[in-house]
Amino acid sequence: MQKLEVFGSNKLKGQIEISGSKNASLPILAATLLSDKKVYLKNLPKVKDIVTMINLLQSLGSKIKFKKKNLIIDNSKQNKNFASYSLVKTMRAGILVLGPLLAKFGAAKVSLPGGCAIGTRPVDVHLKALSKLGVKYKIIQGYVHAVAPRGLVGTKIKFEKISVGATENLIIASSFAKGTTILSNCAIEPEIKDLINFLVKLGCNIQWTSKRTIKILGVNKINQPTHTIMFDRIEAGTYLIAAAITEGNLIIKNVIPNIIKREIKTLRKVGAKIFTKKNEIQIKGNKNIKSLNIKTAPYPGFPTDLQAQIMVLLCMANKKSSVREDIFDNRFMHVAELNRMGAQISINGNKALIKGNIKFAPAELMATDLRASVSLVLAALTTKGKSIINRIYHLDRGYENIEKKLKKVGAKIRRVNI
Ligand code: EPZ
Repeated sequence: MQKLEVFGSNKLKGQIEISGSKNASLPILAATLLSDKKVYLKNLPKVKDIVTMINLLQSLGSKIKFKKKNLIIDNSKQNKNFASYSLVKTMRAGILVLGPLLAKFGAAKVSLPGGCAIGTRPVDVHLKALSKLGVKYKIIQGYVHAVAPRGLVGTKIKFEKISVGATENLIIASSFAKGTTILSNCAIEPEIKDLINFLVKLGCNIQWTSKRTIKILGVNKINQPTHTIMFDRIEAGTYLIAAAITEGNLIIKNVIPNIIKREIKTLRKVGAKIFTKKNEIQIKGNKNIKSLNIKTAPYPGFPTDLQAQIMVLLCMANKKSSVREDIFDNRFMHVAELNRMGAQISINGNKALIKGNIKFAPAELMATDLRASVSLVLAALTTKGKSIINRIYHLDRGYENIEKKLKKVGAKIRRVNI
């Protein structure tokens, strides 16, 4: 086990290089199962969830090797369609192999992901939509047993709710279906556009016909693409907030500012000074942080994956604020820990009321989920003294070299084995 020791409260100054996106990498790795040849992926982040997905693909018969920061996946002998609970339980994105396995083999047995700290995390939207493509499934002892007796047959599908994972699963499955599939009420997160860019390079025929509608013509020929994963917009947003709360001056590199317009607008509203160039953002934090009322929403709304982080900033605002979590049913696990550091946040259903003018005090803390963990690091960076954050394996699921990146811009932070 490891923990982080964080000694506040330096102003962060310097440059941070953003890594590849975890949430773009996971569906693209799953989609490589469509191929029976080689696929070359660049800029994958070195985080735990990627290792877990690679282990899952290897358990399905993929031959995978790293060459510097590039990954070569050879599926010429990939022949298994059973995704075990032991691998899927730690990373709910494991359900994303269901679509490609059905597309390739016409049958699959995939463990249900189970819940996690931020909610029950059902997959009913995935399964209902797959059944419209001709999939028959049963849930037996925590596994989805799915078959497509007549193969996948294209049709019109309207998602009953906006779901990133369900959109991704269906885009991948429909790419090999017979005929045309029209998906509507799709999620439009940038990671989905990156997935589509990859699938088109793979030889698939996919196009957006309106804001949330995608048209897919089934294909069966496959190329050997090379694809560079897009930047991690949530990592970028996290470090922007780090600069805002420490009155720092950071240059965030390897980003596309236009993709995180909402986050930039939000941080300007609270008083940060932000300047953008083609692939970088400079942010200067402001001593006087203005309050704000925020609600999370599907892209291009404010991302739920930055909700815990922005809450830290709003605790330091000059008046009270509120945050409404409209995506997940239990994503306030960080509140209790922040309140132990002196925050005064009260929860009423899916709404958090946040008292301003808080000075966080150092404390020993417990991480619970990926984004809650990083909010504790952010709060600890603002205190005068030493905080300890336990169970940082949650953090390592989605942030590459977080202590190295923060140390490089002046944070006093170290990883300790316990
Ligand atoms: C993706 O999760 C991301 N994960 C999440 O990031 C992100 O928070 C989420 O999208 C929303 O943006 C990956 O991309 C690997 P959803 P996903 O399906 O696909 C409910 C992180 O921190 N729902 O859009 O699971 C669901 O419970 C992670 O990097 C159903 O009810 O999210 C949630 O309340 C956390 N039935 C809402 O919809 C379903 O079949 C949105 O979920 C599917 C989802």
